[in-house]
Amino acid sequence: MPPPTDGLGEVLVDQATIRADVARLAAEISTDYADKQLHLIGVLTGSAVFLADLVRALTIPVTVDFISIVPYGQVTASGVVRIRKDLDEPIEGKDVLVVEGICASGLTLSYLLRNFKTRNPASLRVCTFLAKQREREADMRPDYVGREIPDVFVVGYGLDWEERYRNLPHIERLK
Ligand code: IMP
Ligand code: MG
Repeated sequence: MPPPTDGLGEVLVDQATIRADVARLAAEISTDYADKQLHLIGVLTGSAVFLADLVRALTIPVTVDFISIVPYGQVTASGVVRIRKDLDEPIEGKDVLVVEGICASGLTLSYLLRNFKTRNPASLRVCTFLAKQREREADMRPDYVGREIPDVFVVGYGLDWEERYRNLPHIERLK
């Protein structure tokens, strides 16, 4: 039985589509990093459900770390993000893939990339499950995108509205 949705809006990305998108991304990433040891960094909390599916579909050795940030909207509009929980492990010399649930303006990922670059990883790329079709920070172009969606507010598959709806197994547009 599908979970109750509290009368939210239309389903934008259903479960079967999510499964197919994750499988395609995992195959692409596994090929690109075939001879590497990949270090995944999940951006909490929105990436958690996607990352859990992605790691299990990857066929290469990976390690996983997480970072938690205070959304810039709550702090400043300048793209300065406060780190609430930093990485547990250094990333120097590692092949790093930042995993995010959704990229909208790109400010969050742009800040994180600038921050991570100063820690001298061997390589640094970004994988986002969703990317909104809208204007982005100039230096922000995700390397791997699960699916492009219109510039509307969505919830589910880890994404929240006021911490709710993360558990929906699909992506819904919030009415
Ligand atoms: P950006 O910095 O504008 O790219 O926004 C990225 C962050 O905003 C994500 O990590 C989410 O936490 C949040 N966000 C942006 N759009 C949505 C949405 O449609 N639903 C839920 N969260 C969103
Ligand atoms: Mg949120």
